[in-house]
Amino acid sequence: MGLTMKRTLINELKQHLGQEVLVQGWVQEVRNLSKIKFVILRDRTGDMQTLALQTDTEPDSFALIDTLTKESVVEIIGIPKENKESRWEIEVLIKKLSIISMAEVPLPTDNTDKSQTQIDKRLDYRFLDVRNVKKNAIFKVRSKLVKIVTNFFDKNGFTNINTPKMTTIGVESGAELFEVNYFGKPVYLAQSPQVYKQMFVVGGFERVYEIAPVFRAEKSHTMRHLTEFTGVDFEMGFIQDEHDVMDFIEKMVKDLLKNVKKEAAAELGMLGVELSLPKKIPRLTMAAAKKLLAEKGKTFSEDADLDSESEKLLGELIKEKYNSEFVFITNYPWAVKPFYHMKSEKFPNTTKSFDLLYNGVEIASGSQREHRVEVWRAQAREKGLDPATMTKYEELFRYGCPPHGGAGFGLDRITHRLLKLDNIREAVLLPRDPERVSP
Ligand code: 4AD
Ligand code: MG
Repeated sequence: MGLTMKRTLINELKQHLGQEVLVQGWVQEVRNLSKIKFVILRDRTGDMQTLALQTDTEPDSFALIDTLTKESVVEIIGIPKENKESRWEIEVLIKKLSIISMAEVPLPTDNTDKSQTQIDKRLDYRFLDVRNVKKNAIFKVRSKLVKIVTNFFDKNGFTNINTPKMTTIGVESGAELFEVNYFGKPVYLAQSPQVYKQMFVVGGFERVYEIAPVFRAEKSHTMRHLTEFTGVDFEMGFIQDEHDVMDFIEKMVKDLLKNVKKEAAAELGMLGVELSLPKKIPRLTMAAAKKLLAEKGKTFSEDADLDSESEKLLGELIKEKYNSEFVFITNYPWAVKPFYHMKSEKFPNTTKSFDLLYNGVEIASGSQREHRVEVWRAQAREKGLDPATMTKYEELFRYGCPPHGGAGFGLDRITHRLLKLDNIREAVLLPRDPERVSP
């Protein structure tokens, strides 16, 4: 059966009213009222009620429905008909049903909307978890985000690059590196494509981006940290200063929200998310941000970074003051940023850097990079690094290097904030954290 008939998807049934079709999918639910039996079927396009009647359905198929378990894979030959009373408005009258793969009972997790299954168990059985349409919708939105940013980079003259994930270089901070045994020699999992993206700006591409895994050996157990995440990194040459990078990000964020609102309308609706489109994204220096926080009784020393609590509070203050869900915090203290950031002349002891906060969570960090080799060397030394141990990085600035800058976003963080999920793990199919490296 099914060999000569072409499969019809659930969302195409409307165009086949009254005609015999073949549908295939998972059994979401069975309701057996003896003379009439309902099977709710689900495929990648949605769900649909199908029904079997003693008078119309082949007797073997009619009997088979009694043995059906939830989440089994079946195929049905039947006829779609209008039914204004059903929430689907159409239903499929089953002529023949066959089981392709019977699901065992009980299922290890409950993937219905009312599920009480804990997140750990759900992640252990993620392939069952995402059969729930709402869980599935998160990844449909995430997939659109990738498509939309990719288009945006492409339209703006960026070249997509792929850089090694096994490397000897770590520049964000030494402590976060995962060591790997590379034929008896220690190497690291890339904690950022930072050096490589600069390398290919210098290589003449001028504008490059990469969407790829990033590894951080951070033992943090928070709702926003993972040990492996997907970085959306870009770098651009011939900038005036870090504001050019922020201008680009502002355009990118606007384009992203506008298009995801349009292209993932159904999924956003299903998840109950209403997106408001950003207007102008305010830019506040770190010093100004600290002043705002001080008014609320949160004080920091000049050299300190913000903690996540203050970022959250700042998010609320910005929403109140500027009616914006986004804010750039600029000019981070030199003390808390990596050595490759260019120092600010305008604001001493700060860098030409910024973080982008979305609903009170950092989703991106960026800066203008130091491209003058003598200054670069001095800054490395100032941070206690020996330039002689980083000759491959240093060489980038010795043979013709334009002023440049860029930023890195966490795709998981964007998804997490955009959909207002309470845990970043909900935005990743198979999250990695200090306790979880399987499946
Ligand atoms: O702020 P980070 O560490 O910056 C860099 O990696 C720089 N190379 C970027 C640049 O071009 N200057 O990481 C960039 C972004 C963060 O803003 C955050 O969204 C995400 O990556 N991120 C994490 N996401 C999940 N789990 C973690 N442990 C993360 N660490 C950073
Ligand atoms: Mg950062």
